[in-house]
Amino acid sequence: MIPREIVDRIFDAARVEEVIGEFVTLKKTGANYKGLSPFNNERTPSFVVSPSKNIWKDFSSGKGGNAVTFLMEHESLSFPEALRYLAKKYGIEIPEAEEMSAEDQAAANERESLMLINTFAQEFFTEQLHQTDEGKSIGLSYLKERGFDGKTIEKFNLGYCPSSGDAFSKAALAKGYRLEYLEKLGLTRQRNDRPYDFFKGRIIFPIQSISGRVLGFGARTMQRDSKIAKYFNSPESEVYHKSKVLYGVFQARAEIAKADNCYLVEGYTDVTALHQAGITNVVASSGTALTPDQVRLIRRYTPNVTILFDGDSAGIKASFRGIDLILAEGMNVKVLLLPDGHDPDSFSRERSYTEIKKYFERESQDFVVFKAGVLMQDAVNDPLRKAAAVKDIVQSIALIPDHITRSVYIQACSTRLDIEEIALKNELNKLLRKDARKQLQVGEDVVPDKGPKAPRQTIAPATGTASQERELMRLLLNYGNEEISVPLPSGEEGAKVEVTLPVCDVIIGELETDGLQFENFRYQRIFNEYCEFREREELPSNDWFVRHEDPHISQLAVDLVSQPYELSAMWEERFHIYTTTEDKRLMHTVMDGIYTFKLRRVLQLITKTEEEMKNATPETDIMQLLERKKRLDTVKMKLAEFSGSTIL
Ligand code: CTP
Ligand code: MN
Repeated sequence: MIPREIVDRIFDAARVEEVIGEFVTLKKTGANYKGLSPFNNERTPSFVVSPSKNIWKDFSSGKGGNAVTFLMEHESLSFPEALRYLAKKYGIEIPEAEEMSAEDQAAANERESLMLINTFAQEFFTEQLHQTDEGKSIGLSYLKERGFDGKTIEKFNLGYCPSSGDAFSKAALAKGYRLEYLEKLGLTRQRNDRPYDFFKGRIIFPIQSISGRVLGFGARTMQRDSKIAKYFNSPESEVYHKSKVLYGVFQARAEIAKADNCYLVEGYTDVTALHQAGITNVVASSGTALTPDQVRLIRRYTPNVTILFDGDSAGIKASFRGIDLILAEGMNVKVLLLPDGHDPDSFSRERSYTEIKKYFERESQDFVVFKAGVLMQDAVNDPLRKAAAVKDIVQSIALIPDHITRSVYIQACSTRLDIEEIALKNELNKLLRKDARKQLQVGEDVVPDKGPKAPRQTIAPATGTASQERELMRLLLNYGNEEISVPLPSGEEGAKVEVTLPVCDVIIGELETDGLQFENFRYQRIFNEYCEFREREELPSNDWFVRHEDPHISQLAVDLVSQPYELSAMWEERFHIYTTTEDKRLMHTVMDGIYTFKLRRVLQLITKTEEEMKNATPETDIMQLLERKKRLDTVKMKLAEFSGSTIL
């Protein structure tokens, strides 16, 4: 137990923007900070931090709270762990607790135990490397021979696992850690009922989370025997999800944000060598293809990634598909080829910081253009291959979410491939349409009704959203720039917290969370324009839309703005809430408007699904429809609860 007065001191010291700023790139907007939600995959920031209230709110997931709850949510820390983290950050001393008894440990949850063991293991291995004869003469000398300097070894907490066979396991068991957990973490294995160290006789590379917690290990053999696996790695476990982790991200994250670019390499030693050379915005995928979660991890810090390839890499072409995934996440991808026969490790060793930097800057090429070049080179004088190459490249471009970026690429590739721009555009549009159709077919979540309207809509005209859309538009145009306080889900001890935002941010955040769009295309245009203002961190002037250059829009705006509008009296009637301030009333009205709109959309989708079930043929996957309906029903109930609407 951490004494209450220490807890208070920690809370007093912790600035929410400083704490969160270590994990999320925050930008100042007025009194608040904004960033991309770390809990959701989004492109428009809806994660808000309010320094004045010392709280955060994530509009994409609905989560919110204070610095401690952020660490608990984001880092999966327990309450005391989060406090300890903050105490360390702010130099507050916590009186040393007694050693953990076996009972205490059993009571602590498994995850926590696994974390504790990983930390213990890392410290054990590091100590072995520096403090024991074997560690020094074998491990440390191997590293020194390879050119690792002391600072790098320390920065990455490298270690050594003794070759005796069970030194680590013995120490861990003696400390009271359970064999079952040691095995789960892959640190200990059993042969003939005797525990032994899985990593014995290897150099240890701890794999850390973005906050520096040890999640797992990579362990390199020092033998040259090619029959032995060069690396042993920790298995997947409750604390180590390989697809979500990048090696080096803890050491690199601040530099990645600062440089606004992330170098991506393959191996542990590539990361450490580049750091040592002074290039510190670098992480490794650890020899596997990049996953979407890993891409998103990078995107929290920067939208720009540069992938390093070994000079003689045969793997470049094979990696094209994988790189498409990064494009699809809306990132800007560059590639960087090292000179023949070099990997980042060997390359950086022979050069000064300035030389490396210069080479990297000069040789970075845009991925799409690079890919076009490679494929076309292969297709010289072969019209069929050339056609296939064009298709392939356009496929990559089609994955890019932003249409302006897409057209820039179409132009660049047109020059590069010597193909008319219009031909590339046609091909691109064909692909985009196909995509849109696919999305419509999949459409089981609360997705925007893009594209052609389904005929079913006429079967159930009562479920349209026209009036809810109009309501929301009216709120946006009348009150978009006004600030309201939105309540956060209550924190611990019932402390009520609120965050203050302009109405437009609340509406934009809520709609974007669910990928909702307006059916009325003029409303959607107004909405989009508003979003563009917000992206520039500006607000449209009060009469911006009223004076709009498009007369249809200006007419619409005039209509909506000029109607005298009662702030939700309904809300008060329904709940017998008599709100005191204008601000509160507006908040309720806005939230009501948003949730009623969402509810309508869900009802629409339910009707559509029911209609599909009615018209089912033997080929219909009726189970899938039922599943979908069930899910929508749940969402419906939730929304109804929020909005207080009655569903007939
Ligand atoms: N890797 C692995 N298991 C192996 C080989 C490789 O997990 N048997 C992963 C490791 O994450 C390694 C990366 O793939 O870092 C790249 O492999 P490689 O280039 O062979 O290793 P390096 O990290 O470059 O190691 P070194 O420079 O010491 O050879
Ligand atoms: Mn290497």
